[in-house]
Amino acid sequence: MSSLVVAVDGTSGSGKSSTCRAVADRLGLRYLDTGAMYRAVAWWMLQHDVNIYEVNEVSAHAATPRLESGTDPLNPTITLDGVDVAVAIRSDAVNAAVSPVSAVPAVRARLVELQRAIIAGGGIVVEGRDIGSVVWPDAGLKVYLTADPAARAARRAAEAGSDDVTATQESLLHRDRIDSGRAVAPLTMPDGAVHIDTTDLTLDQVVDRVVSLATAPADVS
Ligand code: DC
Repeated sequence: MSSLVVAVDGTSGSGKSSTCRAVADRLGLRYLDTGAMYRAVAWWMLQHDVNIYEVNEVSAHAATPRLESGTDPLNPTITLDGVDVAVAIRSDAVNAAVSPVSAVPAVRARLVELQRAIIAGGGIVVEGRDIGSVVWPDAGLKVYLTADPAARAARRAAEAGSDDVTATQESLLHRDRIDSGRAVAPLTMPDGAVHIDTTDLTLDQVVDRVVSLATAPADVS
């Protein structure tokens, strides 16, 4: 198996998950969704009535739940203390809680450690906000995906089966602001990343582009 690490960062709704899973499947690599890890911790905090706006409270519980991420791109799994939370972490409540929780340094320190342990096995496509900048700056390929807010909101609303694209767009932009403005590991285009604007591209076009970059990494500077 290839030891290649592909780091894919970008805003919510830019097509990261679909792209990464398809790229990993095409290249025979593993897949890690680091956003799901932050979502799982946020979900746990909500379940345990932790005040997510109190940094000290969140920090005190940052290491509590046992978190496991499966890395099969065709069946990515996430469990907390052995319980499957893959569906629960996509709720509106978690959408609203995840950015403040993920801005807490103790949460990031713990999850970055878990992520590095998984990535160290090599041969993996990893999606997030800080993968190429902080978690794995030596990735063989770094990609930064963006898309216009309206396109991102339309995709997310369609995934969620919602007609309210305006509310979805507001929620996305609100998260973008927190994710890009936080003190620790803000969303940013990493050094050496290839920027792909997916607004007018189909999923297959984006996947083809990333696969060709991954199979010719010498062309990436
Ligand atoms: O990719 P996503 O929308 O599922 O991510 C959920 C949140 O997790 C996002 O608002 C920011 C945070 N996140 C992060 O801070 N760092 C990462 N590497 C991945 C996600």
